[in-house]
Amino acid sequence: MIFQIPDILSVDELVQIQTALAEADFIDGKLTAGWYAKQVKHNRQVKGKDAQDLRTLVKAALLRHPLFQSAVRPKHIHSMLLSRYDPGMEYGRHTDNALMGQYRSDVSFTVFLSDPATYEGGELVMEGADDEQRYKYAAGSAIAYPSSTLHRVNPVISGVRLAAVGWVHSWVKEPAQREILFDLDTVRRSLYAQTGKTDEFDLLCKSLANLTRRWAE
Ligand code: NI
Repeated sequence: MIFQIPDILSVDELVQIQTALAEADFIDGKLTAGWYAKQVKHNRQVKGKDAQDLRTLVKAALLRHPLFQSAVRPKHIHSMLLSRYDPGMEYGRHTDNALMGQYRSDVSFTVFLSDPATYEGGELVMEGADDEQRYKYAAGSAIAYPSSTLHRVNPVISGVRLAAVGWVHSWVKEPAQREILFDLDTVRRSLYAQTGKTDEFDLLCKSLANLTRRWAE
């Protein structure tokens, strides 16, 4: 499943990141792309260890968000890039690497850092078998999607597109299993809000916990 996760960042956090990125040094994005993705990656990103405090901030914001927890089941947010697309820059169709260092990439995310009214183009596009979906969310909001999908970033026509992109090693490798756990958790919360801690609620909690135990790795 593809999730929109609104308001990952507070207004203060967003301003802090935008201010820092306005003064940051950016280098060629090809330096961290796989051998075939290099051919289509035309953007810039903050160098390796620079801006570690910004990455830490974004990571903490993701981890505290209940929808991110329920939908992604993060074990490690192991990699994050702060990227910048100026007019003419794009990232053509690719799939993200399956392994990054000692971690698997199960879920990819983009935290949008620029107000969509300030740039043209630059949509994140997910390609399906016979259709495609375009995403361009408010600054401070995120999208999370299975790392197995083919995707691209359309050329920026005007303005600047800033984004934090990253990869998660999930406790639950299979997207279909994460979806079942997410649905059960959603039903559980709704049931609790309606009728409190009933026998049915307890049984749902038991099934959710036991499926998580079975599938987590
Ligand atoms: Ni990608």
